[in-house]
Amino acid sequence: MSSLRSRAWFGGDTEVGVLHRAAVRALGIQIEADDDRPIIGIANSASDLNPCNAGLRDLAGAVKRGVWAAGGIPLEFPTISLGEDLMKPSAMLYRNLMAMDVEECLRSYPLDGVVLLANCDKTVPAQLMGAVSADLPAIQLTGGSRRAGTFRGRRLGSGTDLWRYWEERRAGRLSDADWDELEACLSCGIGACNTMGTASTMAQLSEALGFMLPGAGAIPSGDARLVAAADASGRRAVELVREDLRPSRILTPASVDNAITVLAAIAGSTNAVIHLCAIAGRRAIRPPLERFDELSRRVPVVADMAPSGAHLMDAFFEAGGLPTVLREIEPYLDTTTVGVTGRTLAETIRAARAADGLAIRSRSDPVAASGGIAVLRGSLAPDGAIMKTAAATAALLRHRGPAVVFRGHEDLYARIDDPDLAVTAESVLVLAGCGPRGVPGMPEWGQIPIPRRLLDAGVSDMVRISDARMSGTAYGTVVLHVAPEAAVGGPLALVRDGDPIRLDVEARVVELEVDVAELARRRADLAPWPTVHRRGWPRLYQEHVTQAPDGCDFDFLEARSADDLPFVPPTIGRS
Ligand code: FES
Repeated sequence: MSSLRSRAWFGGDTEVGVLHRAAVRALGIQIEADDDRPIIGIANSASDLNPCNAGLRDLAGAVKRGVWAAGGIPLEFPTISLGEDLMKPSAMLYRNLMAMDVEECLRSYPLDGVVLLANCDKTVPAQLMGAVSADLPAIQLTGGSRRAGTFRGRRLGSGTDLWRYWEERRAGRLSDADWDELEACLSCGIGACNTMGTASTMAQLSEALGFMLPGAGAIPSGDARLVAAADASGRRAVELVREDLRPSRILTPASVDNAITVLAAIAGSTNAVIHLCAIAGRRAIRPPLERFDELSRRVPVVADMAPSGAHLMDAFFEAGGLPTVLREIEPYLDTTTVGVTGRTLAETIRAARAADGLAIRSRSDPVAASGGIAVLRGSLAPDGAIMKTAAATAALLRHRGPAVVFRGHEDLYARIDDPDLAVTAESVLVLAGCGPRGVPGMPEWGQIPIPRRLLDAGVSDMVRISDARMSGTAYGTVVLHVAPEAAVGGPLALVRDGDPIRLDVEARVVELEVDVAELARRRADLAPWPTVHRRGWPRLYQEHVTQAPDGCDFDFLEARSADDLPFVPPTIGRS
């Protein structure tokens, strides 16, 4: 074991060493000047403002027991918590803040390693971004998915079924009593969304990258096996320090490629494209967007999970979780990568059980031979756009129609149900100004509602295009993450009502079919995007956030090369 980082605080017979040792004695913990027990931080994002993460409070106790049992000293600390449901305009606006919170706590406190406790969508990538930049031994544990309620005899998928029944409600097919009953059983307990939404997707990708113990990312909230995984994660954190196994050895081009492969195989959330690029960018690993498309075309979808498939996360766990998925897609993986277990992916796969043919299918009988996510380019999205083809309507994958343009959220909701809106089922709904800088924070507004008049006529899907994101639990023929975004002068800012737009997913094209000279004229008349925020975090965000294909990280937090870890240790002296 290399000498412990925490010795710089606690070692020696100076007044500074005494000051630091006395500080932890206040907690009832005695550290000697020559103590060789690693100090393991527990970064806990539990919060009443984020019910998805509330179960992490109890898990932290089990992590502590594991750390003590393995001969370490646990010190739990709180971080900001990003609750997807309650935080506005979007938890995404604060993902980089949480990443900085984690990184700066790791930098400034006497920690040798860390257990990262996360669950809700943004908390998983934020912790990984911070831990990768800090490069202290780190292991992550997520808090599991929540129990499913039942409505009209059907088990409810978080988010997905709300969006579905909301359209029923808007079409007048759901009574007040039904609507009340649905509200009462939508969230039947703490934990993450129980579909393969962004939180569950990111838990699987964290595991695929190697930051979690095998199988831990799918254990449901409240399950005793999650407590055992917390204990085991605490124990393993101590060993990681002793083995000096750091994120820089775990996050490699090969492990990032494996995570992209898993994203395709589970038909996971489109948000994961952004988060994975941001995590990888902290080690100067920059997968081109086309890599997501390439693997999505090659890798069979083996997880039959809502919102695009049939099952919920409890079934995915009972079917074996990620290790079983890895076993089914082994030919597409680099199995030499090493995760927090210290073992190779090949060894994890050897211990995995076969697919059950339900929530997880075999690669010889997949849900789809290819699928997941398509990357589109064209005159409307020169730097790329994303579409979840698995959740789209097949008949709309090739479509040409006139644009109906909305500028921002307020404009959209002021006019979308206007009976006089000039819109037909063939129209292409365009929402501009909702990208990373636009709001700012790139909210999940991309699943533009179907206009009520068309809903009433039985239209259930339309082509929708925006520079926003979409909830991982949502569905529809929705083109997202259009880059560059309208707020930085991307072509989306130039679209006018009636402009023909052509979508051809097979050709991976999204085209604004307007004469180049006309577009140049419109560009010359384009007013600068109004800078909404003049102070505080939103201002910093607007000034430094990168575009979607770069992960929406801050330009000053990305690594420029694999050796560029800008993490500077603090000077240890009197405070
Ligand atoms: Fe937190 Fe879905 S709202 S995981």
